[in-house]
Amino acid sequence: MRRAAAFLALLLCLYWMRAQGESGGVTENDITQTEVQSEILGVKTTSHQTNITPDIWAELKELRDMVIQQSVELRKMEQENTDLEARLNTTENVAEELKRENTVLEARMNTCENEVEELKRENAERPKVAFSVGLTDAGAVGPFNTDITLQFSKIFTNIGQAYSPTTGVFTAPVNGTYYFRFTGFEDRSKNWLGIKLYHNDKRITGSYDGNYDDGTVMVSNGFVLQLEKGDEIYMVLTPDYGVSDDHNNRTTFSGFLLFPM
Ligand SMILES: *[C@@H]1O[C@H](CO)[C@@H](O)[C@H](O)[C@H]1NC(C)=O
Ligand SMILES: *[C@@H]1O[C@H](CO)[C@@H](O)[C@H](O)[C@H]1NC(C)=O
Ligand SMILES: *[C@@H]1O[C@H](CO)[C@@H](O)[C@H](O)[C@H]1NC(C)=O
Repeated sequence: MRRAAAFLALLLCLYWMRAQGESGGVTENDITQTEVQSEILGVKTTSHQTNITPDIWAELKELRDMVIQQSVELRKMEQENTDLEARLNTTENVAEELKRENTVLEARMNTCENEVEELKRENAERPKVAFSVGLTDAGAVGPFNTDITLQFSKIFTNIGQAYSPTTGVFTAPVNGTYYFRFTGFEDRSKNWLGIKLYHNDKRITGSYDGNYDDGTVMVSNGFVLQLEKGDEIYMVLTPDYGVSDDHNNRTTFSGFLLFPM
């Protein structure tokens, strides 16, 4: 707006100087007076001085038109400016939003990485427990007149060393859920086969069969048990019952940790 006003002032100034030149030293007042007089009287003068009057109006009109046009253009530019500012604001807002999202995502990624590390650590620290043992190559065991803990002496697997071949007892290294299974074999005729699985001093099963004929008998069972660290699992030979094994590995005892708890 200010530029347009200055431009208008300059044009007026130039116009005035030109008018001065054409009128040969007629003052602004003179022109105005002549104009006014001409208008009031409705006289169509023919003097040299009054000849310039229509020019003034024409040029003023032209100037007014220019100012109007400039104003229109200026408004248009102002509108464009506002539009651009709005778009810039939108862009800035989007950038801010993206930054925020980025921060959130970064935080989540850090959490994920930490969790992965934690899981790796847990997995590495997770106890590995699994055993599988056979009773003996020496043949028949029992019968005795009292409970005896069976000492499975043939070690197939003993990861974690939780099973002791010298005592025959498995000791839980951690709280957890475990799976155990066993098979007993007897080939002595007219003999009873009878073995029991114990969890500490609690019997889990007594598994029996009688070899009435001259064949062989087998008993077998499996359990998922929840153990606390230090709990003991072992097999017991029932009094007056027998069990047998040889190089065929037919009386066996196995167990493993399903998952810690
Ligand atoms: C752009 O943002 C500024 C600051 O938040 C605000 O003052 C201005 O009005 C906004 N312009 C438009 C066109 O939204
Ligand atoms: C094992 O479980 C028992 C009973 O739930 C609990 O008292 C004990 O604190 C646990 N021990 C470990 C090492 O988690
Ligand atoms: C019994 O186990 C031992 C030790 O792993 C093995 O050498 C043997 O071949 C097994 N016996 C049979 C009949 O598979």
